[in-house]
Amino acid sequence: MAAPPDSKADKSPEELLCAAAAAGNTDAIAEIVSSGADPTYFDGSGMTPLMHAATGGHAAAARLLLDAGAPWNALSPSGLSAGDLTSDPTTYDLLLDHALRSELILGTVARRQVPSNSSDGVPAESYLDSRVSFSEDKVMDADSKAVMMEWERPLMEAHARAVCSGGGGKVLNVGFGMGLVDQAIQRYEPEEHTIIEAHPEVYARMLKLGWGEKKNVRILFGRWQDVLPQLGSYDGIFFDTYGEYYEDMREFHDQLPKLLKPDGVYSYFNGLCGDNAFFHVVYCQLVALELASLGYSTQFIPLPVKDCLSEQVWEGVRQKYWQLDTYHLPVCQAESEPE
Ligand SMILES: C[S@@+](CC[C@H](N)C(=O)[O-])C[C@H]1O[C@@H](n2cnc3c(N)ncnc32)[C@H](O)[C@@H]1O
Repeated sequence: MAAPPDSKADKSPEELLCAAAAAGNTDAIAEIVSSGADPTYFDGSGMTPLMHAATGGHAAAARLLLDAGAPWNALSPSGLSAGDLTSDPTTYDLLLDHALRSELILGTVARRQVPSNSSDGVPAESYLDSRVSFSEDKVMDADSKAVMMEWERPLMEAHARAVCSGGGGKVLNVGFGMGLVDQAIQRYEPEEHTIIEAHPEVYARMLKLGWGEKKNVRILFGRWQDVLPQLGSYDGIFFDTYGEYYEDMREFHDQLPKLLKPDGVYSYFNGLCGDNAFFHVVYCQLVALELASLGYSTQFIPLPVKDCLSEQVWEGVRQKYWQLDTYHLPVCQAESEPE
């Protein structure tokens, strides 16, 4: 007699693996995996076995699948990863821990591919050599991707508040864009306000807007990588470039012990993986871990941004680089020596 249509006999090992994962059946998962089923498989609904285990909140099943090589960062058709799909805290922590370990091990090669901001991997050299266009509410690159947008103004004001919290002093901003953070920094009347900008057209616009005539402003035209020898040490530093990768930001962080005074405050535009909640958490923690290895502690201040982001904001922009409801503003300071 023929087997009923949904019996085991009709299913591939991978489909059986998805079913076992959804049921949290660890014995079945171990058996199916050891018989050679592919844990990276996507089923007809675009879900991996790990996504099924995560959705069901089956931490032990998720552990087995991760150990068998299931990718933590696979995305469902709606752009969700296993970490986004679980509502079980144990499964979430397990996935986060695994993701952090994997990203730390992958190191500099793979992380070269993670854009540090909204640029989605536009290579720095080509961005800096191409045209940008300015309008009232945004600066766009030649590919219709936003370099900077007006909706970020409240965020930039909060960053300025953080890096000027010591009373102004000497402040460094890397990346002028629309000058939103610089306008806010100026309100704290810093003794010295250094701005590094690498794009010739953004630089020309800064001069046109009169930034070259401000008494306390020093503009360094060039890539931050190239003007490092001209820098001093600062009470506050903000970093927000475009067309660069996670690894570039990490190289900037390596300079912090030289650039930031012992009591200084460092902050950066935290746009890492701003279109996926779980990846964003992974990258927030990764940066915090890497800053900790340099002796800095990082606090993330949650700022609601949902109200700043209507659909109209993105009109004419090729890519929505931020899709989360909360922005996590990083505030980094040297860790105090234990008493
Ligand atoms: C996102 S915008 C900065 C926005 C700015 N925070 C504001 O408040 O308007 C990034 C800026 O960094 C500049 N940039 C990109 N790569 C750079 C580099 N390596 N060094 C210095 N500036 C850079 C871009 O030309 C752009 O003006």
